[in-house]
Amino acid sequence: MHSEEIRKKFLAFFEKRGHKVVPSASLIPENDPSVLFNTAGMQPLVPYLLGQKHPLGNRIVNVQKCVRTGDLDDIGDNRHFSFFEMMGNWSLGDYFKEEAIKWSYEFLTSKEEGLGLDPTRLYITVFAGDENAPEDIESRALWQSVGVSNERIYSLGADDNWWSPGDNGPCGPCSEMFYDVTGTVGELSKEQFVEAVKKEDVIEIWNDVFMEYEKKDGKVVGKLAQKNVDTGAGLERMTAVLQGKKTAYETDIFKEALEKIKNDRPKILGSEEQIIKAERIVLDHFRTVLFLAADGVVPSNKGAGYIMRRLLRRGIVYFRKISFVYLEHYAQLLDVCVGFYGNIYPELKAVKENGYKIIFDEINQFQNSLENGLKEFEKLEKRRFWGINGAEGEKMMIILGQDAFDLWQTYGFPIELTIELATERNMKVDVPTFDFLMKQHQEKSRTASSGMFKGGLANTNEKTVRLHTAHHLLLAALQEKFGKQVKQRGSNITEERLRMDFVFDRKITDEEKKELEAQVNTWINEAHPVVRREMPLAEAEKLGAEMEFGAKYPDMVSVYMIGKSDDKILSKEFCGGPHVTNTKELGHFKIQKEEASSQGVRRIKAVLE
Ligand code: ALA
Repeated sequence: MHSEEIRKKFLAFFEKRGHKVVPSASLIPENDPSVLFNTAGMQPLVPYLLGQKHPLGNRIVNVQKCVRTGDLDDIGDNRHFSFFEMMGNWSLGDYFKEEAIKWSYEFLTSKEEGLGLDPTRLYITVFAGDENAPEDIESRALWQSVGVSNERIYSLGADDNWWSPGDNGPCGPCSEMFYDVTGTVGELSKEQFVEAVKKEDVIEIWNDVFMEYEKKDGKVVGKLAQKNVDTGAGLERMTAVLQGKKTAYETDIFKEALEKIKNDRPKILGSEEQIIKAERIVLDHFRTVLFLAADGVVPSNKGAGYIMRRLLRRGIVYFRKISFVYLEHYAQLLDVCVGFYGNIYPELKAVKENGYKIIFDEINQFQNSLENGLKEFEKLEKRRFWGINGAEGEKMMIILGQDAFDLWQTYGFPIELTIELATERNMKVDVPTFDFLMKQHQEKSRTASSGMFKGGLANTNEKTVRLHTAHHLLLAALQEKFGKQVKQRGSNITEERLRMDFVFDRKITDEEKKELEAQVNTWINEAHPVVRREMPLAEAEKLGAEMEFGAKYPDMVSVYMIGKSDDKILSKEFCGGPHVTNTKELGHFKIQKEEASSQGVRRIKAVLE
């Protein structure tokens, strides 16, 4: 069965049962700033699930465009897509479990009106019950009444059988339908069923959510004013099942586009597995980018535009691995996509009529910097920073978050690309720091673009964070000048200034103060990255990291390092942070005062201007 036939049958089936067909809403939510994209069919319908009257009545059927980008790294396997279509029928305070279950079963198994799936290959899950709602024995009984044997109905907990779009909004227990795609599975115990799902012998094809509850701040707070039904069946997955394929990439949905890529292939690089992965990433990402462009998204450094940029650039990098890289090849691929979907989603045709301008501008811009970015990456490779690979505690070469961020800012490298390049070389990227820098950057540009706080001062937190990093540099400068025996004996940081007490037995001259200032300012201007490393205490001690006198440390410690490479670490201190991520953020360092604190201990007060 062709995917188009599945879509048509679904709509016709429910139309005949009193549902009004509504077209897909835009991928970009209209009234919900909490999400970037519609990730499920229910999102555009939230007001009606909460009780508002839908202009077309209380039975709706649709096929909604969805984008989910939570797990970009998974794309390339059998099941993950950044874009997909979700078929759904809706009761907005009208029918409930009985009709929902009866119709789901009928649509799946009926040969005339439905998909004609084999009922002996179906499995069902229902909600097992918890503190929010009782076990769904009603659904179990209803499934039995339509002909599913009790042994093929499994009760599972909230992780599997409670559906909500996020921390807030309508939600409820759900009942899912699974299909044996091998045709050989037979009767399964609950444990065997869970195993078979993991192995993808049995896969989920449809979800009926009985939406009668509401969540606020992650907690179920009670019942909604009305009982709703929200069902969701992914068209891609259903098509794969009906066409007897392991993955939708092998169905009619991608057939022509895949042939297009294969025909253009100049040479085969890499293993078959790598090529398949690359093909899938290209197919997935280009389709999503086209749909985003059709809904008015423009590549940018923020929000939906940022996701679009990442998808497009990652798609380009993979496309270059397996095809020629002329614009006309991208255009041909997009043409295939418009040809396939254009009648259902006419907005795609408009993108084509515009010469794919939004997309091509981005491709041109990125291709220009890609080569230089790759060269820059090779330089990073030689800088050799060692780090600890998270929980595994393995020592690995790492790409600093700041460097990953610079690759993004200067050469437009999406983080996925940097990670992939690093992985190929058995290196790791400090992604948390990258994310932090990215967020900071996005916040800054938001502030700048909205004109808020123009010329305003940084908040208290930012000021103290900067002084904190300057504090590390000052200690390093003191040790550089007077030797390692200069130990810190206390510190205090306010919004205005830092204060450091340290072991030293004489006054520091004005000349020396100037030299210390100059040293710190030189380091600031040299723009050294500030990196946090978690490591075992023993390793940190071996590194010679500065410890606070008399302090007790846990087995795993956090060490802040300042410096451009392992060969040139300016400062390493046991410290919990927080710090700026690069010394260039500090401004101008100035010593205000140097005085005696106690016997053999001096005190410096300093500011950043
Ligand atoms: N909203 C439900 C889902 O996305 C149907 O699975």
